Amino acid sequence: MTDHDLPTGFPPGFLWGAATSAYQIEGGVDADGRVPSIWDTYSHTPGRVRDGDTGDVACDHYHRWAEDVAIMAELGLNAYRFSIAWPRIMPGGRFNPKGADFYSRLVDALLERGIAPVATLYHWDLPQELEDAGGWPARQTAFRFAEYAEAIGRVLGDRVHIWTTLNEPWCSAFLGYCSGSHAPGRTDPAAALAAAHHLNLAHGLAVRALRRAAPGARCSVTLNLHHARGASAADADAVRRVDAVANRIFLGPMLTGRYPADLIDDTASITDWAFVHPGDEQTIAAPLDVLGVNYYAPVLVRRWDGSAPRQSADGHRPGSRSAFPGCEEVEFLPMPGPRTAMGWPIDPAGLTELLMRLHRDHPGVPLMITENGAAFEEEADADGRVHDARRIGYLRDHLAAAKAAMDAGADLRGYFVWSLMDNFEWARGYSKRFGIVRVDYRTQRRTWKDSAHWYRRVIAANARSH
Ligand code: NOJ
Repeated sequence: MTDHDLPTGFPPGFLWGAATSAYQIEGGVDADGRVPSIWDTYSHTPGRVRDGDTGDVACDHYHRWAEDVAIMAELGLNAYRFSIAWPRIMPGGRFNPKGADFYSRLVDALLERGIAPVATLYHWDLPQELEDAGGWPARQTAFRFAEYAEAIGRVLGDRVHIWTTLNEPWCSAFLGYCSGSHAPGRTDPAAALAAAHHLNLAHGLAVRALRRAAPGARCSVTLNLHHARGASAADADAVRRVDAVANRIFLGPMLTGRYPADLIDDTASITDWAFVHPGDEQTIAAPLDVLGVNYYAPVLVRRWDGSAPRQSADGHRPGSRSAFPGCEEVEFLPMPGPRTAMGWPIDPAGLTELLMRLHRDHPGVPLMITENGAAFEEEADADGRVHDARRIGYLRDHLAAAKAAMDAGADLRGYFVWSLMDNFEWARGYSKRFGIVRVDYRTQRRTWKDSAHWYRRVIAANARSH
């Protein structure tokens, strides 16, 4: 591949980043007063995670963070998106300075290298003690989250200027409490809808708390919006239903201050939505400075009339329990074309379409791609090099798709590759590798894949062109 293939033309100030999350990379699960999270419990429950993998050690980033920051600097990143582990900061509900010190050191090291820290407050590691008290289906969890946001905001707010409250709350609510394929592994659609509301509420309360603790903080949330396409024109209702329970359930209250009426209708046989108290929607609608979008693949849906067995309940695992309440009449279809090792279709045009839809529906809200990337089966060669041409192709085509949306008017401010390095891929354990840097889990050696060299050239080429 020649340098002519490098995506260029991104504006000055564009954030070129990579992303990770605490439980997926840190390890150090007992260090400095951390308490267990729901993912410690889940991964230690036999049968939940592939090969019995856990995040106990992961990439040992808790002890190797300095080496990892050096890699980021060599890549030329000007931003790094990481998450803060709630169970390190608020064990027993009390602020733990030792846990906060870890992130303070990390942030200082990033700033010394000219890398802007982009901190996510919640990337799925709910303290187990809060799950024991009811978890996200319980209203009080939202208030505990705001206390945590305020506490960490006071420590880091002078140096961290971009915050993301929640990462992919759809996964927390619906994989965690409906399909059960993520921690805590409950399968109760009514509880999942309550969880979604309390995640929304937690977001709104946390934005206010952050702005109190860190005046000038730029606040965002990261959503994994499902870009749904209908198999035919007759499937518009299937698209609408998926869009309601996967996308507008968050976009509605966060950006317009209202839950969509059709969502409430679609789920009326599951819940009466009494968990939404007067004033909640206004709290959730705390103005956002930027909206984070995680994009991997679109979904293809059609109306299911029950006459033939459904192909797949949720588009990921045939036969699994659905993660989409209110979509009992929807069938998720396999899509033709190339796929990643996750089985996800490769469809960069979906990214352009999704960004344009957000630009149209929510004009004036700046956007940031907070995750995009791919897992592929790949082996290191005898010299330890990883020739991951398919990942380069994926990243190149998605960057071009992002640029196409910008050229058509979308206000996109940054792009973060998922992931800086291979890590604990949740229920798939260490079997799926998303990193641009390879991690040998036996030795903890980090090796740049070809995609890391390529990404460094992309960043440099864009810097040169200004
Ligand atoms: C989204 C999640 O935020 C991240 O934790 C996960 O590893 C990637 N998707 C890939 O599945």
